[in-house]
Amino acid sequence: MMTERIAELLLNGQPDAKTQIQGWVRTKRELKDFTFLEINDGSALANLQVVVNTDLADYAEIIKGVNTGSSVEVRGVLAASPAKGQRIELKAEEIQVYGQADLETYPLQKKRHSFEFLREIGHLRGRTNSLGAVFRVRNACSYAIHRFFQERGFMWVHTPIITSSDCEGAGEMFHITTFDLKNVPVTEQNQIDFSQDFFGKPAYLTVSGQLEAEVMAMAFSNVYTFGPTFRAENSNTSRHLAEFWMVEPEMAFCDLAGDMDLAEEFLKYIFKYALETCAADFEFFNQRIDNSVLATAENIINNQFERVTYTEAIKLLQKSGKTFTYPVEWGLDLQSEHERYLAEELFKKPAIVTDYPVEIKAFYMRLNDDGKTVAAMDMLAPKIGEIIGGSQREERLDVLETRIKNQGLDVSDYWWYLDLRRYGTVPHAGFGLGFERLVQFMTGMANIRDVIPFPRAPKSIDF
Ligand code: 4AD
Ligand code: MG
Repeated sequence: MMTERIAELLLNGQPDAKTQIQGWVRTKRELKDFTFLEINDGSALANLQVVVNTDLADYAEIIKGVNTGSSVEVRGVLAASPAKGQRIELKAEEIQVYGQADLETYPLQKKRHSFEFLREIGHLRGRTNSLGAVFRVRNACSYAIHRFFQERGFMWVHTPIITSSDCEGAGEMFHITTFDLKNVPVTEQNQIDFSQDFFGKPAYLTVSGQLEAEVMAMAFSNVYTFGPTFRAENSNTSRHLAEFWMVEPEMAFCDLAGDMDLAEEFLKYIFKYALETCAADFEFFNQRIDNSVLATAENIINNQFERVTYTEAIKLLQKSGKTFTYPVEWGLDLQSEHERYLAEELFKKPAIVTDYPVEIKAFYMRLNDDGKTVAAMDMLAPKIGEIIGGSQREERLDVLETRIKNQGLDVSDYWWYLDLRRYGTVPHAGFGLGFERLVQFMTGMANIRDVIPFPRAPKSIDF
């Protein structure tokens, strides 16, 4: 018999139909004439209730072996359920126990566990309602991202993880090496001799696929990346990971306005798709995690995002009458408290801030005619702060060379990047969405470590 997914049965299963399911026992309730088992296979938030009658062969032995956490296969017949809140249940005719779970040591009980505790048992936390819902939404968003771009003719390109260029120029790269660290070759000046390393020069884990995405956009017009990126910042916050996934579209023949339009359309699309396909999970977040989750989703889908320049944003912050920890002054970067004030308190929806001072942004952003600002855009989300960072890229060879030099970077490292400006250069733009920040925003989860299955952050690398 074919195994069916519980999500499908809960939705469309018909009384009297024979079926077979496989999954993990969430709870067991023994009564006089029968036992109820709640089974979950990860396909849905809800469990399927299995009714086991005492007349089942080997009843006592089977029931003894199916504690919370054990894995089972159940064959039987569906029946309309008299219980409240569930349409259908499964009357067991045959139960096979795959693996028992020791009640004394199994760490998940039928109660609410703290997210801190669940992080300590990361290998089991996908079996809880909350993390199960988060990972299903994460999956739906991943699928929606590909669908959004593929429907619009963007090509998915694979950019390297190992790289020699620091895209953001922020010095937050993880250095990788093939050296035996007990025996690192040094030069006469007592410096590490990278000429002997496998790569012949320093190699790093990428902080962004953007520069390589630009290469591909200069041949395929519209492209996107979706993959892991790394930041060696020792930021122990609820919004930073050392390894996170980024979505980076890059479009040739596109300016900053087109970039912002795409970013807004993109976010609306992902929210809509996730809300439609994971309705029960969203209900759960709204009830149990953050009671503004559904309103936020509706707000994103139905309202235009705010757009302000950095210069306007500074004025708004100065006029706010709020006391901030960090100073607000033209030329200084916006801190998370400023970003959150703008999106959360002032506009009450995502806000796109544009045209930041040249000094605080990366070398590749296009210099505006005022000579003081660049064609950058950051999308700020309520409760999260920066969720997207993007820009129109500098397509003029001479301006770009000067920018690279002014930032103290080595022009020769960027020869191939500069070649794109030598041969058939075009205005182009793109952005990077922090995927975990999106999932955080969507689900209302307070800590970014709880929206990725295996968080990599200071003090979180157990397995
Ligand atoms: O603003 P960032 O640094 O922009 C770039 O890397 C550009 N090269 C993107 C592009 O234009 N193609 O990072 C983009 C987004 C941020 O807005 C944020 O959402 C997320 O990546 N991000 C992080 N997410 C989790 N943990 C971290 N340590 C993050 N650093 C950035
Ligand atoms: Mg940024």
